[in-house]
Amino acid sequence: MPSLTLAEKSSLIGPLDYKILKTLYREAETHEWVRYSELSSITGLEDKELQVSLLKLYNLRLVSKNRVLGELAYRISFSGLDVLAIKQLYVNNVLKKLGIIIGEGKESSVYLGYNFNGEPIVIKFHGVGRRSYRHIKRKRSVSKNDWIGITIENAKKEYNALTCLKNNFANVPKPLGYAYNAVAMEYIDGVELYKTKVDNPNQILNEILGTIRIAYTNCNLIHGDLSEYNILVKDSQLFIIDWPQWSNDEIFLLRDLSNILRYFKKNYGIESDIDKVLEYVKGKL
Ligand SMILES: Nc1ncnc2c1ncn2[C@@H]1O[C@H](COP(=O)(O)OP(=O)(O)O)[C@@H](O)[C@H]1O
Ligand SMILES: [Mg+2]
Repeated sequence: MPSLTLAEKSSLIGPLDYKILKTLYREAETHEWVRYSELSSITGLEDKELQVSLLKLYNLRLVSKNRVLGELAYRISFSGLDVLAIKQLYVNNVLKKLGIIIGEGKESSVYLGYNFNGEPIVIKFHGVGRRSYRHIKRKRSVSKNDWIGITIENAKKEYNALTCLKNNFANVPKPLGYAYNAVAMEYIDGVELYKTKVDNPNQILNEILGTIRIAYTNCNLIHGDLSEYNILVKDSQLFIIDWPQWSNDEIFLLRDLSNILRYFKKNYGIESDIDKVLEYVKGKL
């Protein structure tokens, strides 16, 4: 089968397929592989329906297959989780239709989508090591289906951070909802800071520091991966993105600030006193 897009895969999924995916998702909490006989008794589906649907899900790479105790066994894949998220965001009236992919990182895939008014929105699918699951599994000793729990936790963490930040008027995309491993947010039709030369660097730097300050003082969080790669600029307005790894560890505050101050010094010749800046973002100035 030729490789289909995530949007195409999702549109091919009917109620029965959805039911099976959801069952595999639920069962993943207790076992890595769900045997055919278990799936059959949990779903109550007839053999024919179940087999046709499993073949389809397998061909679409929404489930993986293995042999356990001499029997075929299944588990939900990264794409399977993405499809559950798409369907849930639809039910929640957040996402009408998924569009093209606009960004792919080590631990996420970012898509354009459309809301029920036809306006563009962004859907970010989290996936711990989705590019090389085996590698991550070995390195981080992610056991069994922990990747599902971790990716869901990351999506929720990012959504919660964006919600607090936006409520406090920080410069971040507006969060629109989340489901499973996906976060829906406002689409920023801009470019990453590192790709552009801004006309108002002092103002941009001040706004970045203002958002770090709101994060620290109002939301009690530190970005932790801040750099010119995680800042979008649109019409001389900026937005700080990519918040799932936030923490309260002060080590990251110093690192985030150093990254930003170094960038503005190197590219715009702006000198800053890091101790003063630290005091400012901690709300002491
Ligand atoms: N709200 C958004 N609006 C527009 N583009 C976005 C948005 N969020 C992410 N992107 C694009 O997707 C890329 C990756 O998103 P990001 O949140 O930084 O995830 P990661 O770097 O962990 O993969 C960004 O560099 C940006 O190009
Ligand atoms: Mg990023």
